[in-house]
Amino acid sequence: MVGLSARKPPSRKGSMADVPKDLLDQIKRLEELFTVPGEKLKEITDHFVTELQRGLREEGSTIPMNPTWCMGFPDGHEQGTFLALDMGGTNLRVCEVTLTEEKGEFDIIQSKYRMPEELKTGTADELWAYVADCLQQFIEYHHEGQKIEQLPLGFTFSYPATQEYIDHGILQRWTKGFDIDGVEGKDVVPPFEAALAERNVPIKLTALVNDTTGTMIASAYTDPLMKIGCIFGTGCNAAYMEDCGSIPKLAHMKLDPKLPMAINCEYGAFDNEHKVLPRTPFDIIIDKESPRPGQQAFEKMIAGLYLGEIFRLVLLDLHQQPECHIFENQDISKLTKAYSLDAGFLAAIEEDPFENLSEVQDLFANTLGLTTTKPELELIRRLAELIGTRAARLSACGVAAICKMKGWETCHVGADGSVFNKYPLFKARGAQALKEILDWPEKKGKGRGDPVELFPAEDGSGVGAALIAALTLKRVIAGQNAGIKDPEAMKKAAEGVMKVRPHHHEE
Ligand code: BGC
Repeated sequence: MVGLSARKPPSRKGSMADVPKDLLDQIKRLEELFTVPGEKLKEITDHFVTELQRGLREEGSTIPMNPTWCMGFPDGHEQGTFLALDMGGTNLRVCEVTLTEEKGEFDIIQSKYRMPEELKTGTADELWAYVADCLQQFIEYHHEGQKIEQLPLGFTFSYPATQEYIDHGILQRWTKGFDIDGVEGKDVVPPFEAALAERNVPIKLTALVNDTTGTMIASAYTDPLMKIGCIFGTGCNAAYMEDCGSIPKLAHMKLDPKLPMAINCEYGAFDNEHKVLPRTPFDIIIDKESPRPGQQAFEKMIAGLYLGEIFRLVLLDLHQQPECHIFENQDISKLTKAYSLDAGFLAAIEEDPFENLSEVQDLFANTLGLTTTKPELELIRRLAELIGTRAARLSACGVAAICKMKGWETCHVGADGSVFNKYPLFKARGAQALKEILDWPEKKGKGRGDPVELFPAEDGSGVGAALIAALTLKRVIAGQNAGIKDPEAMKKAAEGVMKVRPHHHEE
């Protein structure tokens, strides 16, 4: 496995020589607004630690620290066939995962369905009907003519949910632009199961899983040093393995303090009170105009859904300032459309390999119908760098805070999401920030990884969800029913189709 360690991003300082004063002044102002120095990162991380701890203590904290009832890591010997469903922002993915006899291995078949944009703001009935239809199609296609008793399903539902049980989850609030009435504050499992039952789809929901927990568990399937799972994508968040004894808000349940419990932090909500994050006027506009103002303050500064929009707002603001001459006398109507630029647009700007930024020039001409001068291109590139760098550096605070709180000096972090996988230099910038926050000494010897290292994760919403379903059934069979609402029905699902080995994990 190749680790991703700190590397200094290149600088284009030399190319600024011909930039006129009005644009140079703006670049300077933007640098001041968007740069987060190491000291500030440390201050943010310290406040983050306090907030994570508060979340473990008090119900309804800003960072909810949701217990997930995923109670242990896989040992690599899990077996059986499981369905996994991932309801993402753009796609709905259904997988059938077979965990095979060979340690840590699996087979997977999958189908992708488009998640229609209208569904995100439609009704709950339409949502569940669509999801159930996709599952039905999947089973009819892949198991045509076969008699299926019941397939256990791990459902990756990547929104904050309160879980008293692993097979249940009350949606705390929609994030990432979803806004479907009548779902918040309710258990999402019954209407989902009802839609399946109406269609006679033979599926038993075995685990409702967050994408971060799935990422952590999938990564731990093959790497015992994995302790955290992170998503840097449309949204941002992390999960880690806690012990029940360190979760005061669960004390009344009298669980064995040594039992492990995966915590879905939901730290996209960090600093909703606006105490430490260095918000710019653009972050404030993003928040105000979002479907849920006042929520996901951290996420709105760093996640993929918002990066292009921050960039667009800055350019629009510059164009409107009389003392700044940018896109002068041009039709800027395309630039006025909210959310018309995505993180991929910003990534493409940062990826232009040419000194004259000819690719950025083409991008602006083709996407926005704007002609750009060389100095304007320099400003555009610098702005993309600033927004991308701020996102990576702030992202590191969440991971650093978990490590600090747990006293972990070294660990592996499984990471996934479009920003992590596709945004240039995100990993290197994040690694550099971790180094600054955690005060690592200079590296001794070549080829050695950083003490806390991020690795691209195994498919968390497929393999991870399947593994969590397998681990849950293993627990049911072993009679360890903590956090399982419907153990009898689950046992049936387990007996029907699966080969689940007796429980022998150290829990
Ligand atoms: C959601 C989390 C999720 C994250 C990454 C956030 O908006 O609230 O549940 O893990 O996005 O997908």
